[in-house]
Formats: sequence, C-alpha cells, structure tokens
Amino acid sequence: MNIDHVATLRQARRGIDPDPIVAAREAECGGADGVTIHLREDRRHVQDADALTLRETLRVGLNFEMATTREMVDFAIALRPDSAMLVPEGRTEITTEGGLDIVASPDAIAAVIARLAGAGIPASVFVDASEDQVRAAARAGAGICEIHTGAYANAFAEEGGLGPAAAAELKAIAAMGRVAIDLGMKFNAGHGLNEANVRAVAVLPGIYELHIGHAIVSQSIFHGMREAVARMKRLVER
Ligand code: PXP
Repeated sequence: MNIDHVATLRQARRGIDPDPIVAAREAECGGADGVTIHLREDRRHVQDADALTLRETLRVGLNFEMATTREMVDFAIALRPDSAMLVPEGRTEITTEGGLDIVASPDAIAAVIARLAGAGIPASVFVDASEDQVRAAARAGAGICEIHTGAYANAFAEEGGLGPAAAAELKAIAAMGRVAIDLGMKFNAGHGLNEANVRAVAVLPGIYELHIGHAIVSQSIFHGMREAVARMKRLVER
C-alpha cells in the first residue's frame, strides 16, 4: 500500500490532517502486507519526518521509493527501510511516468544498488516491460524487479476492460515477469492498478507483490482506509 496521496491531501493545506502515519496504521489493520512511501526530491507529499516516524511505528515492512540521487541514497541508509524501490523522478511529472532506464546508466544504478546492499537494504527497480531493462536490472544487481503496469492500466481504462490493447500489455508484463524470475529476481508489479484491473495482474504466474496507491486512497474517501485496503486485499487473494 502506497500512502503518498494521504500526504498529498495533507500538503494541500500544509497542515497535519490527514496524517499518513494514521493511514499506515489503518492500512495495516486492513491487511496491507507492506507500506510504501516515496520521498520526492521536491517533498511535494511525504516529508522526511513521516519517513522517520513510520520507521519507528510500522509493524509491516517499509518500502522506501526513491530517486537514485546521492541525497536519497544517504537518506535511505540512515532510515534503514526494509527495501528501497528505485524510480526515475521528474520535477514536472504528476506521478512516476516511465520505468528506470537502467540500460542508459548501468554503472550508476549498479553503484546505488551496491551501496544500499552494503547497508543491508535490498533494492527493487521499477522498469517498463522491456527485456533489455529487465536484463540490465539483473546485471546491476537488483534482487527485485517491479514491472510497470501503467500502460496496461491505461489501455484497460480506454477499452473499458481487458480488450486487445490491455491484453497485449498484460502479455508483455507476464513475459517480463518470467524473464525476471528466470534471472533470479522477484517479480513485482504496480502502477495504475485498481479494483477493476487488478485481477488479471494478480493471477500472473510467479507474481510476488503488487504495489498500489492511488486507487486505494481514492476508495478510502468512500469506504475508509481500512476497508479500502481490505477490499483490495480480498480481490488480490481471490
Ligand atoms: N509502483 C511504483 C514504482 C510507483 O511509482 C507507484 C506510484 O507511486 C506505484 C507503484 C503505485 O501506483 P498507483 O498510485 O498508481 O497505484
């Protein structure tokens, strides 16, 4: 469960409500297996203090989503999350847009993964469903590969279900998941998943974790956070 957008709402007034720490506790009560926060360079939602408090209070694993900058690597090493999820970061993007381009800078990414590993932090890399990127992820030393499901989610929304374009995207995700597993990495998936489109991804062979934020936070407005997480958890487990 990614709770960034609880912090987004709080930052709309730069106040204290809603508190992402309470949201994380409710997510745990709803059955979340882990909590993700993305500390962005511009601190647009999650703040440093949120990360530090969550590290002290979370009972499930803390996954720290981060850009591959020196500042963020230093922060992660001080924070000691249960895992770090490496993503590209653009100041003007609304959300993480594409996967990490490991092919373009393999040595820099490998150095970040090695520094994190030296501090005992397993790294996950977020990549598009591209075989070159998945293979580069393994060569860079990533133990976990999260395949970007955004294109699948967009196609599903445009087609109003699992039409030909969504099915093609899904096939690519499944194939890259298989490559990741064959290369010894765990196969995670995420971005744009919701109650309508999650099922087809949850049943992919070998899938390890799904990372979901916006859809659950949106549902929580109507059902409460605990119930919104529980609804998604039921769908995924079923
Ligand atoms: N995985 C990664 C790497 C992400 O950057 C995000 C968005 O923060 C998610 C999963 C969750 O995406 P969404 O909020 O669309 O569920």
